[in-house]
Amino acid sequence: MTETMKHITLASRPTGFPTQDNFKLEEAPMPTPGEGEVLVAVKYMSLDPYMRGRMDDGPSYAAPVPVGATMEAGAVGEVIASNDPKFAVGDHAFGMFGWTTHSVAKASMVRKMNPDTAPIQTALGVLGMPGFTAWAGMTAYSKMKAGETLVVGAATGPVGSMVGQLAKQAGLRVIGVAGGEEKCKLAVETFGFDACVDHRGKDARAMRDALSAECPDGIDIYFENVGGATLGGVIPLLNLHARVIICGMIAWYSGESDETGSMDLQKLWRYSLVKRLTIQGLLQTDHVARFGEFLREIGPKVANGEIVHIEDVAEGLETAPEAFMGLLKGRNMGKLVVKVG
Ligand SMILES: NC(=O)c1ccc[n+]([C@@H]2O[C@H](COP(=O)([O-])OP(=O)(O)OC[C@H]3O[C@@H](n4cnc5c(N)ncnc54)[C@H](OP(=O)(O)O)[C@@H]3O)[C@@H](O)[C@H]2O)c1
Repeated sequence: MTETMKHITLASRPTGFPTQDNFKLEEAPMPTPGEGEVLVAVKYMSLDPYMRGRMDDGPSYAAPVPVGATMEAGAVGEVIASNDPKFAVGDHAFGMFGWTTHSVAKASMVRKMNPDTAPIQTALGVLGMPGFTAWAGMTAYSKMKAGETLVVGAATGPVGSMVGQLAKQAGLRVIGVAGGEEKCKLAVETFGFDACVDHRGKDARAMRDALSAECPDGIDIYFENVGGATLGGVIPLLNLHARVIICGMIAWYSGESDETGSMDLQKLWRYSLVKRLTIQGLLQTDHVARFGEFLREIGPKVANGEIVHIEDVAEGLETAPEAFMGLLKGRNMGKLVVKVG
């Protein structure tokens, strides 16, 4: 076993968009597990949009990462030392290990994984938190019915692509929004969306025109991942009794303008009344008791190819900051993970 480990800490809080200076790659002595703990060598770690929120010190649904602490992340790896009877050396495990090569964790906070049922990194994407978020939001709140129209942004990411596939399989017309021609092609040809609108270079009015052309019967469900001009384009097209599931708004995570570009607050409020909209915030942790149900339903569909997924793999822990900044700019193509070990 090597005697040191590497981890990436939050060096400073970003003002606006994060930069390399906000992160610091550090070396530390290899930790040893105490009673009831395991030492894990990380193989893959997840990069997710929520990490941008953890870099800020403000009120949110989760505590910020303290300056100087290791950046937070879900990760999968191999147990290389165990002080708990539930884990043996060589077991594979998922935990919130962070941006790190190695981590000591309480065995009770770690989930054992069987690498024979699915590649372990799928526990970070299609069979992990993002896939679960999409499934939980759709099953709990969408009230989807065959023949309705659904729109979702970040359509080729792990949340959007799962939303689109679930809706398509339920018989809806499914329209994606994605950044660029290549992603739009992927949404239609790989994930089976009926159409995909490229949001790049479009303001809310242009988004409205482009979405209106693809949604001749209006929009019944908007699964909100992005905010920005996409939201501005969607609102005027929402049908009577439409459902809006607010999952994320990545266009605004670094303090960008909060304009929807098409409607001021008074008009939006009135519109919500007139159209009797249901606007529902979604936080996946509220649904965690259903995670087993999700795996039982979606696991076999991933194994037989009924649900497809794509991964974007960054190589090496030191590439994580650059890859993360790329995620916020839409440079990832599919679920972004870092191959650490
Ligand atoms: N509420 C919850 O419990 C929960 C849990 C998980 C995720 N989420 C949220 O779900 C959303 C999707 O997450 P994910 O993991 O699937 O991410 P992802 O799709 O892998 O990556 C984020 C994508 O957002 C898009 N994007 C970035 N800036 C944008 C902008 N200004 N306008 C429109 N799109 C923009 C980019 O795709 P394009 O290039 O295609 O635009 C980028 O690839 C995020 O908002 C995330 O915070 C919420």
